[in-house]
Amino acid sequence: MGDQENDRRRARSRVTVDGPERAPHRSMYRAMGLTDQDFRQPFVGVANLATEVTPCNFHLDLVAAEVKTGVRDAGGTPIEFPAITVSDAIAMGHQGMKGSLISREIIADSIEVVAFAEGFDALAAVGGCDKNLPGILMAAVRLNIPTVVLYGGTMMPGHFQGRAVSVVDVFEAVGAHAAGRLSDQDLDALERAACPGPGTCGGLFTANTMGILVETLGMAKLGTSAVPAVHPDRARRAREVGAQVMETLALGIRPKDVITRQSIENGIRVAAALGGSTNSVLHLMAIAGEAGLALTLEDFDRISRETPHIGNLKPGGEYLMADLHRVGGVPLILRRLLEAGLLHEDAMTISGKTLGEEIRQYPLPTTEEADRIVYPVERPLHPDGALAILRGNLAPDGAALKITDPSGAVEFTGSARVFDGEEAAFAAISAGLVQSGEVVVIRYEGPQGGPGMREMLSVTAAIVGQGHVSDVAMVTDGRFSGATRGPMVGHVSPEAWVGGPIALIQDGDTITINSRKRELSVDLPAGELDRRRETWRRPEPQFRGGAFAKYQRLFSSASRGARTTIWED
Ligand code: FES
Repeated sequence: MGDQENDRRRARSRVTVDGPERAPHRSMYRAMGLTDQDFRQPFVGVANLATEVTPCNFHLDLVAAEVKTGVRDAGGTPIEFPAITVSDAIAMGHQGMKGSLISREIIADSIEVVAFAEGFDALAAVGGCDKNLPGILMAAVRLNIPTVVLYGGTMMPGHFQGRAVSVVDVFEAVGAHAAGRLSDQDLDALERAACPGPGTCGGLFTANTMGILVETLGMAKLGTSAVPAVHPDRARRAREVGAQVMETLALGIRPKDVITRQSIENGIRVAAALGGSTNSVLHLMAIAGEAGLALTLEDFDRISRETPHIGNLKPGGEYLMADLHRVGGVPLILRRLLEAGLLHEDAMTISGKTLGEEIRQYPLPTTEEADRIVYPVERPLHPDGALAILRGNLAPDGAALKITDPSGAVEFTGSARVFDGEEAAFAAISAGLVQSGEVVVIRYEGPQGGPGMREMLSVTAAIVGQGHVSDVAMVTDGRFSGATRGPMVGHVSPEAWVGGPIALIQDGDTITINSRKRELSVDLPAGELDRRRETWRRPEPQFRGGAFAKYQRLFSSASRGARTTIWED
């Protein structure tokens, strides 16, 4: 490589370490063992989201170390730095969940700030739990320096009474236990069996959905996401990622070359085809927003209507992410959609090849087992996708529904049971006070109202655990975990905090959820909502200072990805 080319690759780090005036800066680096040769090489920031707060990221130090080896072997100087993580499962069901969506913004902000301040030439980022990959991608787009993302991988399944289980089975068991349908001993045995080691929650929940999407978007090396956290291939693939980031830097490919309208539409397509988490709606909108791409909820609905549902993965289906790895991982999904003409195959990837070129170089098993986990496009589980955007007088700006019912649709009309906040709803459900045919409405849980748009997994799992798999519905301006199943509508916009119609619903109102008509409505006489609005008052904020008050001020509507925005896009 000539000096000119090396200077091009070091365009940012040269400013921090070249020349006599940078002697103090080099001195600081020398204190950490860097050599003259290190200063002549591109600086690659390695964002490592390792932490002891969650098994999802518990092993990432090992993964990041392999990435750094790959960077160094390929002629780069790796510099590791951390970013925060919140464990969604451990934050679930209490006030702590208000920190989850905020953590996405802090991850994005912290990676952006460190990479900007240190003048890295390129970035590799290793993350696991739900908000990690969206936060990393948002930062990558903002920085727009060559970046490769590596997902830390799923947890292996636990085994209980002859079946594969994950932490979500434990959440649902809490409801069964409260209803007297599960003994203390069985709950204890399940708790001990469900999570057998490091890695993210095992089904097609939010983290695994985003792991699949980061490959689909072209920001990760193909074939890396489905490798389980403890699989021996993970170290090898991590070293390859280190080499890849140097290659991506050499090619000059930047995140905004990869995150385009085409790649975002591919992401929506895959989420719809698999029945991925409704959080993917928020995250893809936020990533697109950072890239300056105009994306609306209608894009999700249109693509979902045109997409066959082929993923037989939990929570709607039968299999876990580790099963997907066994039959070919993400390339299997992408190959099936590509051959059906359902992907933009010209979308660019971090390798410099198009997505189509990348997918076609993967040998794929076509076995009966593969067909059970990812159905062939010509024989789908359902003819259209599992994501639906609902509108109506209860959600003028939209609401999100993931269809997990085997019928492929949700048609539910019931009587409202209204709760201000998750705690009141959980207490009523645990006490058996919610009846078949009711629609549980949980409000003041939106991006601003919560703040932080809590996920309602404890509530939805308690409903399911009490045997109300499809005869009790829920409507909320909060979110759902990717693990939620049943007729559950989230992201209702405008949220209650800003005076959206959900703030005006009363016990006994008749609410209709209809996925075929894309409808979320309340049956009230004309003018009744306006009449109720006259007496509505916003509650006092819970936080007057600190991070929660700050993000309460900055979050946009869920219908725009709940991204923090200073100026209107
Ligand atoms: Fe991290 Fe579930 S808590 S993926």
